[in-house]
Amino acid sequence: MKLLIDDAHIDEIKRIEDLYPIDGVTTNPTILSRVHQDPVKTLTEIREQIGKDGILFVQAVPDDAEGMVRDARAIVKAFGESTVVKIASTPQGFKAIKQLTAEGIHTCGTVVYTPLQAFLAAKSGADYVAPYINRIDNMGYDGVATAEQIQDILEVNALDCEVLAASFKNSQQVLELAQYGVGAATAAPSVIDSFVKNAAIDAAVDQFRKDFDSLAPGKTMADLLQ
Ligand code: E4P
Repeated sequence: MKLLIDDAHIDEIKRIEDLYPIDGVTTNPTILSRVHQDPVKTLTEIREQIGKDGILFVQAVPDDAEGMVRDARAIVKAFGESTVVKIASTPQGFKAIKQLTAEGIHTCGTVVYTPLQAFLAAKSGADYVAPYINRIDNMGYDGVATAEQIQDILEVNALDCEVLAASFKNSQQVLELAQYGVGAATAAPSVIDSFVKNAAIDAAVDQFRKDFDSLAPGKTMADLLQ
């Protein structure tokens, strides 16, 4: 499963990318608005940070297919081949995805709340479909189950498209989808940190340090092997 950072703050992206095995960064207009600066500057900084091969997701803003296609072409031209353009999974969005697929531009059908929405985006040619796990949960449905249903639909219909599960609020939601075998998950830095936020892990690491200190105070193996 690919793991992406769902955030646009460059300091947080640097911190998370330094610590964890990260494949890229996902943004949307709301995420960009939280940085309070020109979105092109933010996206340029992110591209520089993740390198030319890191996967960067950038959303097309217009509601109509023509505008989405125009945005997508400009986004890929500015941020490179490994950029995936997020297109809202609406009727106009499906039209745009079909056009962009024909042009060889990678797309992600986003704003996915239902399995059939994902089916239409994937069948239109999207490389990814992004179900919003927590938002679906908050509507009284089961976000994880919806993503699993989408994964099944993609497999059964042999659609060349990966689930990019998004909108997570806790590590359990990510765990269940990692176990189910979805292609990718994008989560906020705090959720990624929570994968390993566990008092038992901290206590075990602390005990190992103390036990080694009882043999060679303040030393490491490298110190002893010099
Ligand atoms: C990513 O593709 C989505 O835009 C994002 O994960 C939505 O997250 P939110 O529900 O926390 O806004």
